[in-house]
Amino acid sequence: MPTTVELAAATEAITLPATLQRIVLTGFMGAGKTSVGRILAQQLGWQFLDLDDHLEARAGATIPALFSTHGEPHFRRLESSALANALSRPHTVLALGGGTPEQLTNRLLLEQTPGTVVIFLDAPFETLFDRCMLQSFASPDHIRPVLASPTEAEARFRARQPLYRRLARHTIPTADLTPGDAADQILAAITSHGNL
Ligand code: S3P
Repeated sequence: MPTTVELAAATEAITLPATLQRIVLTGFMGAGKTSVGRILAQQLGWQFLDLDDHLEARAGATIPALFSTHGEPHFRRLESSALANALSRPHTVLALGGGTPEQLTNRLLLEQTPGTVVIFLDAPFETLFDRCMLQSFASPDHIRPVLASPTEAEARFRARQPLYRRLARHTIPTADLTPGDAADQILAAITSHGNL
């Protein structure tokens, strides 16, 4: 039986697939995973969890500090373990880190956790890179170590695109959408399918 949810911010109710427990947002840095995820969770009355924040809280250190002290491979191990933990939570919108789908372990965890639907927030590299630069000017604490070299960042973007696409049940092109519009499109995509 599908589950009917009264949307917090609207008068209408929507019908979610009955087995749906988690909506996971993937995509490159700057795709809007956190801002869209917060809106979506608020609309559904679900928890919102940002995997980067979850990882930092578990490690007791920031991502830039983890990269500089222990290197990226160590960060990726912490990321996998934070993901496994996050996927045990019910009724949760989870925003992944941009690099989470690079690890096979993480893709398998996402594919094999029941009740989980993955949504890819897609936009061109130039749009995403500009957004990230604006974010780093607006909040200088928000450092993304993997953006230090634009050329390497673009290479990561190209390598990850097929991974995001294959992992996701739905792809939402977000370049021209507000976070609220993107959240609406995600709900429309999920509710148009009766099951997961
Ligand atoms: C990373 C993306 C970041 C964060 C870390 C590495 C990446 O997350 O996990 O800095 O490799 O793309 P956001 O996509 O939330 O910025």
